[in-house]
Amino acid sequence: MGSTDTIRWGLVGTGMMALEHIANIKLLGGGTITAIADPVPACLDRAQRAIGHDVARFADSAALAASGLVDAVVVVSPNFTHRDVLGPLMDAGLHILCEKPLATTLDDARAVATAVKGYDRTFWTAMEYRFMPPVSEFVAQIHAGKVGQLQMLSIREHRFPFLVKVGDWNRFAVNTGGTMVEKCCHFFDLMRHVVQAEPVRVYCSGAMDVNHRDERYDGRTPDIIDNSYTVVDFANGVRAMLDLCMFADGAEQQEEILATGDKARLDVLIPAGDLVFSPRVGFLQPKQVSRWHVETPPDALAAGQHHGSTFFQHRHFAAAVRGEGPVIVTANDGYRAVAMGLAAEISARERRVVTMAELGL
Ligand SMILES: NC(=O)c1ccc[n+]([C@@H]2O[C@H](COP(=O)([O-])OP(=O)(O)OC[C@H]3O[C@@H](n4cnc5c(N)ncnc54)[C@H](O)[C@@H]3O)[C@@H](O)[C@H]2O)c1
Repeated sequence: MGSTDTIRWGLVGTGMMALEHIANIKLLGGGTITAIADPVPACLDRAQRAIGHDVARFADSAALAASGLVDAVVVVSPNFTHRDVLGPLMDAGLHILCEKPLATTLDDARAVATAVKGYDRTFWTAMEYRFMPPVSEFVAQIHAGKVGQLQMLSIREHRFPFLVKVGDWNRFAVNTGGTMVEKCCHFFDLMRHVVQAEPVRVYCSGAMDVNHRDERYDGRTPDIIDNSYTVVDFANGVRAMLDLCMFADGAEQQEEILATGDKARLDVLIPAGDLVFSPRVGFLQPKQVSRWHVETPPDALAAGQHHGSTFFQHRHFAAAVRGEGPVIVTANDGYRAVAMGLAAEISARERRVVTMAELGL
């Protein structure tokens, strides 16, 4: 596609996150949504209202793929459907932005990543955290040596419980991959991106201790972790840690990410959008902490719940579709983030360290 061509967009899945993609495709410009697919007519209706003009409507991805109406598709259906949904879209040679997690099982994630190896269109795994402007700045500073030699990376997410989804699919690990895959694949991807190495072993202590315990779906109680600590050792010696709590909606900052090297520490705070730099000063010496704010454009902030990241991700994705930029988050990145999440799930369940080699990585 040339830089002036209008991208014809399709969406597969028209639930909550699809609305954020719709808002950002509209905000970005240079494209128009032409087709949507979802088995639930009420979801199609709501998405159509958000789009604001007539679009072709289909019950599944195969019909949308066969329509010839779209150039690029956002896959935003439930996690467990991703592998099946992607097949016809890839057969039709469409550009694809696939929501995280790439899949819910190792076999499915590996199969998608393998299929993408020979794919000559854009395939991109959606990983919003890389594209939040303050987080992008944080990563750039670390890669530029701001903290010296990176040694430790700590990611804390303290937030609200999982929201209600269409058909309550997100209450069961069989549908999501488990919390450490579903939600934490974002953070495992961010770890790999910051550390610039591959994980070697994972230990996770986690359980469902507070949320969802009184919920019943066809008599079944949800089985998803709502709090955990995960430690990851990377091949280059960097240690990373994820501290997840999904009953801490009162916390001032939802995400606090700390990178510490031999020279300094750098933090990023979301939603504050602040970076805090703390160089080493020696015992009892005056601190030299500096703090600055990274601005996120208000229209990008307002077009979703992910600190403007969906807008910037779409901008980079559209550039890749037009042949004007690289794929920044590949299918392989998506696969590896799923594998780390599954390692954490196994670790929490079996209360042991899980090596990535056990998973064939
Ligand atoms: N990147 C992020 O930060 C982020 C945030 C939220 C959700 N997500 C991801 O987006 C995806 C959708 O999540 P959501 O919150 O919108 O869920 P949702 O339940 O609100 O919406 C899912 C939609 O997909 C439809 N659907 C079900 N099976 C389908 C199929 N086979 N083909 C087409 N449509 C189908 C449902 O009817 C529903 O409308 C998930 O993979 C989720 O992990 C990502």
